[in-house]
Amino acid sequence: MKKPMVFVARHIPPAKLALLQENCDVDLWDEELPPPRDVLLARSAGKDGILSLLTDMIDAEVMDAAGSGLKVISNCAVGYDNIDVGEATARSLPVGNTPGVLTDSTADFAFGLLMAAGRRIVEGDQYVRAGSWKTWGLTTLLGEDISGATLGIIGFGRIGRRVAKRGRGFDMRVLYYDPLCQDDPYAMQIGAECVDYETLLRESDFITLHMALNDETYHMINAETLSKMKPDAILVNTARGAVVDQEALYHALKNRVIRAAAVDVTDPEPLPPDHPLLSLDNLIITPHIASATVKTRNNMVQIAIDNLLAGLSGEKLPHCINPEVYA
Ligand code: GLV
Repeated sequence: MKKPMVFVARHIPPAKLALLQENCDVDLWDEELPPPRDVLLARSAGKDGILSLLTDMIDAEVMDAAGSGLKVISNCAVGYDNIDVGEATARSLPVGNTPGVLTDSTADFAFGLLMAAGRRIVEGDQYVRAGSWKTWGLTTLLGEDISGATLGIIGFGRIGRRVAKRGRGFDMRVLYYDPLCQDDPYAMQIGAECVDYETLLRESDFITLHMALNDETYHMINAETLSKMKPDAILVNTARGAVVDQEALYHALKNRVIRAAAVDVTDPEPLPPDHPLLSLDNLIITPHIASATVKTRNNMVQIAIDNLLAGLSGEKLPHCINPEVYA
């Protein structure tokens, strides 16, 4: 029997590729960088399934290019702002993502950034390597205490909750803002307080972002909200770059409206090497690696494959973003 044809938009671990090849005729873009738009369009043509990454924009044009045989889009990420889900739903196309398996690795990383910025760990490393370390100094690289500080979490979904748990483990006062989760039993159990947005901005020493990127959250952190934060506030972003107005963040960091920021995500990704943010010494920046552990990335690829294979055989995806297609 003819195997279904799939386009896989990036290199995946050999064992996972072999698994896919047992079931599908795989057209693999085996490169480090994402397929250019024309390649994505050309290689999607006639495919039954697409396995995409968050760097691949899967919109109506790609779905048209794939044609009427397209049965499933499987995104190897929990976020799916790169996919026009409305368009897929209108075409009754299920879209999969990879929730759950990256929750703790991402929460760990967010907390790592929080600690690195609060305790100036990256600056300390640079200071030593630059030969500036002459003696133990009473005022050398003073940072902010983590324990006892107030942690403000914006977005109390899977990852936000796990960051809250870590904050409580460090004896922090934990506040969260999420219009969808008020009086949340888990929050009550661990002792996190639901507050309004203004209170969170005003009272938090550390603010960490865990909302999805959508029309409501685009530039939710901007000049106005930054000006409402404490002058010593530290902002952490492991969500999506565009939830922050980066120009406003640049000015807030440059003019010390807030103390520091640590971001794993930017808009665009990567930032051009001459981007003003990269000139700041009170910004830590990492290349979108919050979920990058061996175990988590393997699990993400496995879920993406499970979603893809389910969609190809007409079964419900184990992790479907638009379950209404089955209604
Ligand atoms: C990473 O950012 C993801 O959405 O999986």
